[in-house]
Amino acid sequence: MLDLASVRAAFPALAEGFTYFDNAGGSQTLGVVANRIRDYLLTTNVQLGASYAISHAAGERVAEGARGAASFVNAADPSEVVLGSSTTQLLQNLALAMAPSLSPGDEIIVTDCDHEANIGPWRRLEARGVVVKEWRISTLRLELSDLEPLMTPRTRLVCFTHASNVIGSIHPVAEITRFVHARGAQVCVDGVAYAPHRRIDVQTLDVDYYVFSFYKVYGPHAAMLYGKRGHLLALSGINHGFIGETVVPYKLQPGNLNFELTYGIGGIFEYFDDQGGAEQAFADISAHEEALAAPLLAFLADTKGIRVLGEPTADAALRVPTISFVADGLRSEAIVRAVDPHRMGIRFGDFYARRLIERLGLTATGGVVRVSMVHYNSHEEVARLIRVLETTLVRL
Ligand SMILES: Cc1ncc(COP(=O)(O)O)c(C=O)c1O
Repeated sequence: MLDLASVRAAFPALAEGFTYFDNAGGSQTLGVVANRIRDYLLTTNVQLGASYAISHAAGERVAEGARGAASFVNAADPSEVVLGSSTTQLLQNLALAMAPSLSPGDEIIVTDCDHEANIGPWRRLEARGVVVKEWRISTLRLELSDLEPLMTPRTRLVCFTHASNVIGSIHPVAEITRFVHARGAQVCVDGVAYAPHRRIDVQTLDVDYYVFSFYKVYGPHAAMLYGKRGHLLALSGINHGFIGETVVPYKLQPGNLNFELTYGIGGIFEYFDDQGGAEQAFADISAHEEALAAPLLAFLADTKGIRVLGEPTADAALRVPTISFVADGLRSEAIVRAVDPHRMGIRFGDFYARRLIERLGLTATGGVVRVSMVHYNSHEEVARLIRVLETTLVRL
């Protein structure tokens, strides 16, 4: 079972008494991560690759962070992990690196429910003659029966999300990937909304590309893109021209990576090791999160005029505790602003899954109200939010 007191003690910001329920926007940062970044800057902040001792030490620290990232997702080799500033940037870079290998008439499939980060870079390839098709969520789930008619022998890549950053539903990545591979194409999965909540094993999922951001996984503003080694080798380099095509991941890291943040992310992996290893830690996290989501979902289901979008149950196999709702006759902003004075951070909007909000017809409502929890949230915090919403919704 999760030891909530020790979990919360690992996040200094939680001691201030504010309730963080906007974690899908960005989680709080582990103390150990902040300490590492500070220590790097104060003791080993030199250029890498020089012959003097501090440069060696700095290089080893950065390499340790990168190795940790590879092992966090169970990549077969550290060279399969490309580090960068954000998921948005890494996916733009991936599209840029893939573009020379695409011919006019090649096809890429994107969804209408992803964050724009995994849609926009692919749609931009239309200017090069790539045909971009849209996999629509007809049932608020990604159905293979909707994907099937879109796939042709020209399909090169299918881009979709592991968990929705708005409605929290988990998509069956391994099953979708098998389906896509059987038809000769690759997958590119956005794991940003999933990574804070569940263990990722890229080898079990057999994904071709998988990307997420560490600032949502208790770390700093940095991100990683996993790619199968053979795929990364086949991509065109986007770094300086003289850097060889076999030099992965460096050929895909223009401007290089951020040294102090790469050392800092090692603190995330240290934290999971301290919680009994990632496998155990995420099993405990998933049980705790399900127990947090259940009372909020039950309250929302029982409240007249409220509609929860997506998966109605708290089942950890089906959803993460990112819960979005709308209220009849109310703008989502009004609800959030009424909650603000209670020292709780919830949020309204489209969260850059703008196509999903448009598809749901919720643009005029100002998008949804989103409550996004993670494992450091407590039952008391959820109970307090329910009390605040009870009084707020009556008054509005
Ligand atoms: C599901 C999802 N994908 C991608 C992103 C973009 O991540 P980044 O800010 O690192 O570019 C976000 C950010 O909110 C997200 O929620």
